[in-house]
Amino acid sequence: MQKQPITFQPIGVITTPHKKQKGTPIQPYAARDVAGEVHVFPEYRDGLKDLGGFERVWLIYHLHRASSAKLSVIPYRDVVERGLFATRAPCRPNAIGLSAVRVLELDVKSGILKILDVDMLDQTPLLDIKPYVPRFDSYQNSKAGWLDDLGEDRDIADDRFPIR
Ligand SMILES: C[S@@+](CC[C@H](N)C(=O)[O-])C[C@H]1O[C@@H](n2cnc3c(N)ncnc32)[C@H](O)[C@@H]1O
Repeated sequence: MQKQPITFQPIGVITTPHKKQKGTPIQPYAARDVAGEVHVFPEYRDGLKDLGGFERVWLIYHLHRASSAKLSVIPYRDVVERGLFATRAPCRPNAIGLSAVRVLELDVKSGILKILDVDMLDQTPLLDIKPYVPRFDSYQNSKAGWLDDLGEDRDIADDRFPIR
C-alpha cells in the first residue's frame, strides 16, 4: 500500500457570515436560514449545468483554518473524549468538511449559488459540489452511536478547536 500525497485544487470559495470559530453553528441543521454564497471559478462553471431543481447540494470543502489533527477529541456535543473518526470535529488528518446546504438561487454564468444553512467559516475553499439526493443520502432511523446518548446538546461551536 503506497501512501502517495494527493493534491486537490479548489473549484471555488464559500462566503459566509461566520468570521470566527466561536459562535459558528456546528452543522447545517443548527444554521437554519443562515445565508452564504458559493463562488465557482470560471473554469468549472460548465459543471453547474443541470444542478437547477436540486433543493440541497453537498458542499465538500477544505477546513482550511483547522488546527493540527488529533485522534482523540472532546466533540462539541459531548464532555468526554471520543475517537476523531466517530466525530465531525474539524482537526482531522485530511481537513475535509461536508455540509448539505439549501440552494436558493443558481446562476451558472456567474458561477454563484446563493445558499442557506451554512456552518463553514467565511472564505472556505470549495473542493466539490454534489447533488443531495434523498434516495441516496438519507437513511431514516439509522443508529448514531454515542450521539444517540448525548451528554450535552450543543449546536454552536466554542473555542475548543483553535483555528489558524
Ligand atoms: C463540527 S465542523 C462540521 C463541518 C461539516 N458540517 C462536517 O460535518 O464535516 C463545523 C465547525 O468547524 C469550524 N469550521 C467551519 N469552517 C471551518 C474552516 N474552514 N476551517 C476550520 N474550521 C472550520 C466551525 O467552528 C464550525 O462550527
